[in-house]
Amino acid sequence: MTDGNSGVSVYDVPAEWSKRAWIDDAKYREMYARSLSDPDGFWAEQGKRIDWMKPFSKVSNCSFEPGNISIKWFEDGTTNVAWNCIDRHLPKRANQVAIIWEGDDPNESKEITYAELAREVATFANVLKAHGVKKGDTVTVYLPMIPEAAYAMLACARIGAIHSVVFGGFSPDSLAGRIEGCGSKVVITADEGLRGGRKVALKSNADEAIRKTGDTVKSLIVVKRTGGSVAWNAGRDVWYHEETAKVSATCLPAEMKAEDPLFILYTSGSTGAPKGVVHSTGGYLVFASMTHQYVFDYHDGDIYWCTADVGWVTGHSYILYGPLANGATTLMFEGVPNYPDNSRFWSVIDKHKVNIFYTAPTAIRALMQSGDAPVKKTSRASLRLLGSVGEPINPEAWEWYHRVVGEDRCPIVDTWWQTETGGILITPLPGATKLKPGSATQPFFGVVPEIVDAEGKMLEGATEGNLCITKSWPGQMRTVYGDHARFEQTYFSTYKGKYFTGDGCRRDADGYYWITGRVDDVINVSGHRMGTAEVESSLVAHPAVSEAAVVGYPHDIKGQGIYAYVTLMQGQEPSEALRKELIAWVRKDIGPIASPDLIQFAPGLPKTRSGKIMRRILRKIAEDEPSSLGDTSTLADPAVVDDLVRNRQNNK
Ligand code: WTA
Repeated sequence: MTDGNSGVSVYDVPAEWSKRAWIDDAKYREMYARSLSDPDGFWAEQGKRIDWMKPFSKVSNCSFEPGNISIKWFEDGTTNVAWNCIDRHLPKRANQVAIIWEGDDPNESKEITYAELAREVATFANVLKAHGVKKGDTVTVYLPMIPEAAYAMLACARIGAIHSVVFGGFSPDSLAGRIEGCGSKVVITADEGLRGGRKVALKSNADEAIRKTGDTVKSLIVVKRTGGSVAWNAGRDVWYHEETAKVSATCLPAEMKAEDPLFILYTSGSTGAPKGVVHSTGGYLVFASMTHQYVFDYHDGDIYWCTADVGWVTGHSYILYGPLANGATTLMFEGVPNYPDNSRFWSVIDKHKVNIFYTAPTAIRALMQSGDAPVKKTSRASLRLLGSVGEPINPEAWEWYHRVVGEDRCPIVDTWWQTETGGILITPLPGATKLKPGSATQPFFGVVPEIVDAEGKMLEGATEGNLCITKSWPGQMRTVYGDHARFEQTYFSTYKGKYFTGDGCRRDADGYYWITGRVDDVINVSGHRMGTAEVESSLVAHPAVSEAAVVGYPHDIKGQGIYAYVTLMQGQEPSEALRKELIAWVRKDIGPIASPDLIQFAPGLPKTRSGKIMRRILRKIAEDEPSSLGDTSTLADPAVVDDLVRNRQNNK
């Protein structure tokens, strides 16, 4: 079937889905309407999906008004996230598998039951306590995808410490900034990580990062993963397995206020250093649990796999907190999609009989390039539902995912959300929503999207503009760590009274939402957010570079690639060697995900007479659309544009 207006394909809800799913079309409409007409009544009911130590009596208390941005949910209730993710399941699920861990090496995997998880988390919590960690303290977690990452995060939650997980691919410098940003005295890492058969020097990165912070870290807890040799700082470093022998395996959960922070996660924005996004305890968990249940239509006994890394928000909400709050079996994967071969994802699905599979468009596009054979040689009979997250999925990749991976029988939930939103905001529900490839479709319960023009005027009907959300939802971030003014400035000052997402969006005649990508200076590289300003400041820190401007450009696999225009210091000559050196420089400075794909040496950058770089022009050149550069008459020196167009770098 096709959509009458634009000719795009439309996929109906399969009949068995509308029967078995938690939410069918009628239920979606009824619940969505109620979530808007009686939000506190609606969320009071949903708030009961988690257990409370002291029940809440107030539901929401939120203001998006300038000067008074305040977001509170269930504020007088008390609870504990680890207690909800573990203890309350024990009477029924002690022997049920909580986490299936699949190692980088296909011969390595293990299953952790809820009873085992309870012991591991309590033990880790006691180790943290023994190292002086108290309620409200921050702990930085720099671990690979091993079960200890889950134990560490839940251990923090259990004793009321705030975790800040830093993706294992970040450099010592990036890690140092994040340790300093939240003032962690305790850092958790591993000797080495293992990805695609290659070792990642986590401990040595952590050593270097801690040195850069001026040795403010008192304890570095090291999990042994590979057994590789590592340097040791005797007064500070401890082996996790030695510490566990000294503590008990029980630990009472701390009673936390609903609004106490659960975690900080650093994320890139259009300006400045990455921000520490702060998420709460009660509202976050309610929202993660609810979205996990309804969006993935999770039922008891399902095997659920989200391929994200716990270093990103997707790993927090949809590997750990959402699934475990729901008593689910969640799969955690240490490796990469193409190791040992391109069938790995599908082999893992067969090995563990995965029913629900959630991954990123960049992985789908990369796997699609190696054709159907690596998929087709596996069964995938267990698969029921597919999901996508992190960036817009192009219809071609969507169709391939649907037809080849899901054999036309598995709906795809294209879930739009952000680190800041804590959970999924715009998404199909598999038993309710007709699908259009490339559209994130409809708002989740309680979510009110609004499309505005550049001046903030609300646009109605079928339209395109900038995406705002006008009402709070329980999973919303509460503040920027240590900088509430920046929270207001970043998200609520562009369009007063509204949360601005930074994304462009189109709404079609059926009211379906199509996210068109970032409209700010954030690039989405393989589903990872990079601030152009971060890459620029890394480049200009190189002695040969005088000026740099970074933009995104369309990339077949990564979605967007990083294109850097670099002006050299006088006396410096452009060369291939320097190009390579600059790429390696950024890689070392920020991490591999920030490596520029293309560097163009530019004698001059297009600037207005007041000296502002005109990124719009740089973007068009990088996108190879020189005919749509628009008005260049306001440039101080229009001739620089001709040079830039002539010397454009090609990604083919
Ligand atoms: C983009 C990841 C289109 C978007 C959960 C957003 C998407 C940014 C989708 C947040 C999607 C995420 N369709 N775009 N389904 N999901 N995005 O904070 O630009 O790492 O603003 O959170 O990713 O990235 P973040």
